[in-house]
Order: sequence, then structure tokens, then C-alpha cells
Amino acid sequence: MASYHLKLLVSFLVLIVFVLFSSLHHVSSSSTSPREEAHALLKWKDSLHGETPAALSSWVLPPIHANSSHHCRKWFGISCNKAGKVVEINLTNTGLVGTLNSFPFSNLSNLNRLDLSINQLSGPIPPSFGNLRNVTILDLNTNELFGSLPVEIGNMKSLVNLTLFDNNITGPIPLSLGNLTDLNILLLYKNKLSGSIPLEIGNLKSLVKIDLSENHLSGPIPPSLGNLRNVTILYLHANELSGSLPVEIGNMKSLMKLNLHDNNITGPIPLSLGNLTDLNKLILYNNQLSGSIPLEIGNLKSLVKIDLNRNHLTGPIPSSLGSLQNLTILYLVQNELSGSIPSKIKNLKSLVELSLAQNNLSGPIPPSLGNLQNLTLLSLMSNNLSGSIPQEGEQVVRPLCLARTKIFMVSKNQLISCSVASSKSRPSLNGEVACSSDLCWVVLNPKHNRGLFDGEDPTSKRLILFIKPTGDCRFAAKTP
Ligand SMILES: *[C@@H]1O[C@H](CO)[C@@H](O)[C@H](O)[C@H]1NC(C)=O
Ligand SMILES: *[C@@H]1O[C@H](CO)[C@@H](O)[C@H](O)[C@H]1NC(C)=O
Ligand SMILES: *[C@@H]1O[C@H](CO)[C@@H](O)[C@H](O)[C@H]1NC(C)=O
Ligand SMILES: *[C@@H]1O[C@H](CO)[C@@H](O)[C@H](O)[C@H]1NC(C)=O
Ligand SMILES: *[C@@H]1O[C@H](CO)[C@@H](O)[C@H](O)[C@H]1NC(C)=O
Ligand SMILES: *[C@@H]1O[C@H](CO)[C@@H](O)[C@H](O)[C@H]1NC(C)=O
Ligand SMILES: *[C@@H]1O[C@H](CO)[C@@H](O)[C@H](O)[C@H]1NC(C)=O
Ligand SMILES: *[C@@H]1O[C@H](CO)[C@@H](O)[C@H](O)[C@H]1NC(C)=O
Ligand SMILES: *[C@@H]1O[C@H](CO)[C@@H](O)[C@H](O)[C@H]1NC(C)=O
Ligand SMILES: *[C@@H]1O[C@H](CO)[C@@H](O)[C@H](O)[C@H]1NC(C)=O
Ligand SMILES: *[C@@H]1O[C@H](CO)[C@@H](O)[C@H](O)[C@H]1NC(C)=O
Ligand SMILES: *[C@@H]1O[C@H](CO)[C@@H](O)[C@H](O)[C@H]1NC(C)=O
Repeated sequence: MASYHLKLLVSFLVLIVFVLFSSLHHVSSSSTSPREEAHALLKWKDSLHGETPAALSSWVLPPIHANSSHHCRKWFGISCNKAGKVVEINLTNTGLVGTLNSFPFSNLSNLNRLDLSINQLSGPIPPSFGNLRNVTILDLNTNELFGSLPVEIGNMKSLVNLTLFDNNITGPIPLSLGNLTDLNILLLYKNKLSGSIPLEIGNLKSLVKIDLSENHLSGPIPPSLGNLRNVTILYLHANELSGSLPVEIGNMKSLMKLNLHDNNITGPIPLSLGNLTDLNKLILYNNQLSGSIPLEIGNLKSLVKIDLNRNHLTGPIPSSLGSLQNLTILYLVQNELSGSIPSKIKNLKSLVELSLAQNNLSGPIPPSLGNLQNLTLLSLMSNNLSGSIPQEGEQVVRPLCLARTKIFMVSKNQLISCSVASSKSRPSLNGEVACSSDLCWVVLNPKHNRGLFDGEDPTSKRLILFIKPTGDCRFAAKTP
């Protein structure tokens, strides 16, 4: 009987010891020791392909009796806290080749910054990276990562900067991204992301910079973006986005750069855009925008560049544009704009490039364009402009270095043809023809075109003519 009780007591004690041990074991595995962190990192190092990069030659085990935080002091790219736990790993541009499969995402509980950018890491981003709950900066840009973004990304609650651009990441942007409420910087450009931009992005109220450009994102631009009052840069260009521009974009009060070019966006430019008073670049070319250019754009006094090329915009060029004192570039090429060129354009004192080609503009070229002292590019071809070409005496041509050159607008779809009408014997134009997708130009150096530029500073002035990229280029270049 006594022996039975003894056995019971022993079993009980064994149980207690077991429970105690396993709970201790549990504590120790959820908080990896410094030495274990080093071992876990070495395991990843050993998984890398090819020769060990020079940067990692310092990653070796310490002598047996050395400090357990040897790696904190001796290993390249590693920083630790006072307790010897790794808080930062920065191996940017160190020639790493391999995968993230054995990266110890689960064992670096204090990791705050992880920068493995500009290497040749390939393969997928493992779901276990969601365990990096204290990471504020994750930068894996310019690698060869593929596969989709794990849903677990939504667990990285401390993330401030998420930078994954220039990889081959496919699939959708996980909705769980909407849980990363501290996110400031979201750079996913130059990947192969598809699907639509999650509405949940509107939860990320701390966002300052969003760049999702050069992916295969489709569907509409979520109206929830209007919640993001601190965003200064919104780049969604070169995707397959469709639908119309949400009115709510006008609520993004801090917006300075809006790039939505090369998508399939339809409908009008919302009037609310006129509320974005900090906007300095508005780049919407290569879409299917229709309707007229809102007068309200004239409120955007910070604008430096407007590019609305290749849309279906109709109606007149609003005179209100004349109040954009800082505008240097105004491109409205290949739309269906009509009416005359507003004379207020002469107020755009900072203008350097003005291209209104391939529209239905009519009426005369306002002689006041000659006030635009910094204008180096003026393209008006393929319109319905009429009237006589402003002459030298009217000061139009001087800033363009078009002295003694006459421009004839013939009619829509016809070139501005250039002919040199010098009172002297006509000199031949001596310059090279260059073409982009829909424009050609001839750059003439006065030094090589004497007779055209008599009295001009032969070192500084250049004549630039913009013409169509057909055989007509040659024609214009050869024009006597
Ligand atoms: C261990 O680290 C402490 C504090 O960083 C230092 O004072 C000591 O010299 C180190 N010991 C060895 C053997 O490196
Ligand atoms: C990593 O180091 C590079 C070069 O020293 C630096 O530019 C970069 O900001 C660092 N990354 C992080 C996350 O601190
Ligand atoms: C690393 O984390 C994994 C998963 O939590 C765990 O199984 C493993 O024991 C840890 N490794 C070390 C060395 O702590
Ligand atoms: C992680 O961050 C949380 C909240 O910021 C903090 O309370 C916790 O102590 C951190 N954990 C570690 C292991 O640093
Ligand atoms: C992405 O994949 C394509 C084809 O699979 C490959 O040609 C390209 O180099 C890859 N790019 C990156 C950044 O890994
Ligand atoms: C995040 O990135 C931005 C720009 O790249 C940088 O200015 C900022 O300091 C980074 N945030 C942190 C917490 O380092
Ligand atoms: C994270 O996001 C997902 C998907 O939006 C959601 O279902 C989940 O409840 C969120 N989790 C937390 C903790 O916010
Ligand atoms: C937005 O920016 C302001 C000013 O920088 C800052 O005080 C505020 O906290 C930011 N809002 C969010 C949600 O991050
Ligand atoms: C835009 O839509 C048209 C017709 O629906 C399609 O042919 C074209 O590929 C799309 N372009 C882009 C950039 O998505
Ligand atoms: C924003 O723009 C719309 C349309 O122009 C206007 O009705 C609204 O009052 C503006 N809101 C603010 C806050 O300026
Ligand atoms: C226009 O540019 C000048 C000089 O760069 C700058 O000081 C001024 O603030 C700008 N005006 C607006 C409305 O942004
Ligand atoms: C014209 O260009 C010059 C040289 O770039 C610059 O200093 C000047 O401010 C510009 N004028 C205007 C009105 O923008």
C-alpha cells in the first residue's frame, strides 16, 4: 500500500517536472537566445548559392568561450541591442545569390530593419516573414523574387517602409495589407502584380508615398484613396487600370505628384482635382479620358508639369491655365480639343515646352506667345489653325530661334511645313533628324547654318522644328 502511494507521488513529481520543463522550453523557443540567432543566420548563409560573398566572410562561429554576442560586433551588416539580440540586418548590394527559404524569419524577434536590397535573391517570399512583427523597414528591392505576396504580410504590424520594387512578384496585393496602419512608404513598382488595388488601402492613413506602377493591376482606382490625406506621391502608371477617376482623389490634400499615365482610365477629369493645391505634376497621358479640361485646374498654382497627351479630351483649352505661373511643361497632344489657343497662355512665363499638336484647334497663333522667353519647344502641328504666321517683327519667333523662318499652318492633318524665307539666297538646313514615337525634330546649330542666324550668338542658339515621323521628316529637313 505504502509502495503504491510512493509510486503515485513519484509519478506526480515526474509530471510536475515535465510540465515545468515544457513550459520553460516553450518560453525559450519563443525568445531565441543571441547565440541561437547567430546559428539560425548561419543556416541561411549556408543555404546561399555559389561562393560566399566577401561581405559574409565575417559570418563565422565565435571561439567556444567568446561572448555570445560575438556576431553583433564582428559580423558584417548585423547590429544588435544591448541584450545581444539582432535589431538590424543590412546586406544591401552584397552579391547574395540564393533564396529566402531558410531565412530565420521566426527567430529574430527583435529585428527592426531588414535590408536585403540589390542582390540576386530568387524564389518566393515565405509566409513565415509575417513573423517579423517588430520590423519597421523591410527592403527587398531589386532582387529576383517571384511568387505571390503572402497574406501573412498583414501581420507585420510595425511596418513603416515596405519596399519590394523591381522583382517578379505575381498575383494580387493581399487585402491584409490594409492592416499595416503605420505604413508610410509602399513601393511595389516594377513587379507583375495583378488583380485590383484593394479598397483596404484606404485604411493606411499614414501613407506618404505609394508607388504601384509598372505592374498588371486592373480594375478601378479605389475611391478609398480619398482617405489618405498625407500622401504626397501617387504613382499608378503603366498598369491596366480602368473605370473613371474617382472624385475622392480631390480629398488627397497633400498630393504633389499624380502619375496615372498608360492605363485605360475613362470618363472625365473630376473637377475636385482643383482642390489639390500642392499638386506640381499631373501626368495622365495615354488613357481614355474624355470631357473637357476643368477650369479648376487653374487653381493648381504649384503645377510645374501637365501632360494630358493622347486622351479623348474635348472642348477648349481653359483660359484659367494662364494663371499657372510655375508651369514649365504643357502637353495636350492628340486629343480632340477645339476653339482657339487662349491668349492668356502668354502669362505662362515659366513655360519651356508647349505642345498642342494633333487637336482641332482653330483661329490664329496668338502673337503674344512671343513673350514666352524660355520657350524652347512649340508644337502646333496638325490643327486647324489659320491666319498668318506671326512675323519676326511681332517678336513671336525670336525666343524659338525661328528668325527668318516662316511657318505655314495648312489645315488639320497637314504638317506645319517649314520654309526658310530669307531675303538672301536660301541657305540649306544643316541638321540631324531625330524621331520619337510620334514626333521628329531637327536641331540646327547656328554655327553650321550660317545665313539663317546672322547676328545670333553662334554657340548657343538652336532651332528645333517638330514634324511628323513619316517620310515628311526628310521633306522638312530638306526644305531649302
Ligand atoms: C564580452 O562583451 C563585453 C561587453 O560587450 C566585453 O566587455 C568583454 O570584453 C567581452 N568578452 C570577450 C571575451 O570578448
Ligand atoms: C543599408 O545600408 C545602406 C548603405 O549603407 C543605406 O543606404 C541604407 O539606408 C541602409 N538600410 C537601412 C534599412 O538602414
Ligand atoms: C526558430 O523558430 C522556429 C519556429 O518558431 C523554431 O521551431 C526553432 O526552434 C527556432 N530556432 C531556434 C534556433 O531558436
Ligand atoms: C515589439 O514591439 C512591441 C510594440 O512595439 C513591443 O511591445 C515589444 O516589446 C517588441 N518586441 C520585441 C521582442 O522587441
Ligand atoms: C522576371 O522574369 C522574367 C521572365 O521570367 C525574366 O526575364 C526577368 O529577368 C525577371 N526579372 C527579375 C527582376 O527577376
Ligand atoms: C522610409 O523611407 C523614406 C524614403 O525612402 C525615408 O525618408 C524614411 O526615413 C524611411 N523611414 C524610416 C523609419 O527609416
Ligand atoms: C487583417 O486583414 C484581414 C483582411 O482584410 C482581415 O480579415 C483581418 O481581420 C485583419 N486582421 C487584423 C488583426 O486586423
Ligand atoms: C499626417 O501628417 C501630419 C503632419 O505631418 C501628422 O501630424 C499626422 O500624424 C499624419 N497623419 C497620419 C494618419 O499619419
Ligand atoms: C485598354 O482597353 C482596350 C480595349 O478594352 C485594350 O485593347 C487595351 O489592351 C487596354 N490597354 C491597357 C493598357 O490596358
Ligand atoms: C473640392 O472640389 C469640389 C468640386 O470642385 C468642390 O465642390 C468642393 O467644395 C471642394 N472641396 C474643398 C474642401 O475644397
Ligand atoms: C513657384 O516657384 C517658386 C520658385 O521655385 C516658388 O518659390 C513658389 O512657391 C512657387 N509657387 C507655387 C504656387 O508653388
Ligand atoms: C527662364 O529660365 C532661366 C534659366 O533657366 C531661369 O533662371 C528663369 O527663372 C526662367 N524664367 C522664368 C520666368 O521662369
